[in-house]
Amino acid sequence: MISDRKLHHLNLCMEKDVEYRDKRTGFGDVELIHKALPGIDKEEISLETEFLGKKLEAPIIITGITGGHPASQAINQALAKAAEKLKIGMGMGSQRAAVENPELKPTYTIIRDEAPSTLIIGNIGAPQVEYAEKSAAMMDMDAMAIHLNPLQEVIQPEGDVNSKNYLENIKKAIETLEIPVIIKETGAGIKREDAVALEKAGAAAIDIAGAGGTSWAAVETYRSKDRSLGDLFWDWGIPTAVSTVEVLEQVNIPILASGGIRTGLDMAKAIALGADTAGIALPLLKEAFEGPEAVVARLEKFIEELKVVMYLLGASNLKELKNVDLIIQGKTRDWLQERGVETSKFARRSL
Ligand SMILES: Cc1cc2nc3c(=O)[nH]c(=O)nc-3n(C[C@H](O)[C@H](O)[C@H](O)COP(=O)(O)O)c2cc1C
Repeated sequence: MISDRKLHHLNLCMEKDVEYRDKRTGFGDVELIHKALPGIDKEEISLETEFLGKKLEAPIIITGITGGHPASQAINQALAKAAEKLKIGMGMGSQRAAVENPELKPTYTIIRDEAPSTLIIGNIGAPQVEYAEKSAAMMDMDAMAIHLNPLQEVIQPEGDVNSKNYLENIKKAIETLEIPVIIKETGAGIKREDAVALEKAGAAAIDIAGAGGTSWAAVETYRSKDRSLGDLFWDWGIPTAVSTVEVLEQVNIPILASGGIRTGLDMAKAIALGADTAGIALPLLKEAFEGPEAVVARLEKFIEELKVVMYLLGASNLKELKNVDLIIQGKTRDWLQERGVETSKFARRSL
């Protein structure tokens, strides 16, 4: 049953090592250039932004984690309370379970109950995109996320491995839905050419959800009898920093950078590379089990770290952060240059 699978995923993510093993996000290759004369007052730094039509007090989105199992309700409640308090965005896990079994709806609708004003994003997988309308109608939401997870589908025994009509079906869903649609990966990244196709299909934003954080091949490895397939593809995907830069080279819609964002410094790097917001999932899971105060404390740490970085760069708002000088080195530079990105332009923005 889907509901049981959801619980199994949650437990595995809590208890096992489900992150990429050798592949990194690439943020380690990004050096933000220190400014000895910041020239600003840290107390006046503003993190305000707008994303998918809602004003946020920080450029942070809790990306889709759960729903669909009775145990998800308390987790969603904790996350939603924290999102509302800090005025950041929140996504939910796939709504498929509640479309198929309406008794499970409260495990999702608790989110809007607890977060009446902030940005809330629904969620459905590309293989179940025919459920998008029913999912959007489940509660008052600001946007719908359609997730792409071919890596997970191909590793899991019961996965959907015919993606021939995904793009066409996504386009139809975008045309039908009355709310903006964000297309998200789930941790293996999005290449530029796919992003261009999704922008053309009418996506309002893209969550690149790159490699370096939670690995869905890893999660499915623990669930499978023969672990060799998941083990082989554990580190598959486009690193988050790489995906962010290459997608931004060609698309003009807002970008949410996520996948392996583990500190406010990672967030700052993602935004300095051009992303509009940064997303986190796994780092909040333990705190979500503990309750809303723990989630708020963890998020406040991210926010403080982000402000410290901005202070050291002399950036008093996110627009200024997007224009700081930075160096892209190592594997990330190699990858981007092979894909035709001229990386030195980031190092000379203020010249
Ligand atoms: C327990 C768990 C459940 C998730 N379920 C979903 C889901 O239902 N739909 C979805 O789009 N993404 C889902 N994700 C993926 C996250 O939204 C995110 O893209 C991915 O975990 C990478 O971010 P991270 O490295 O910060 O965890 C889930 C992640 C976790 C950890």
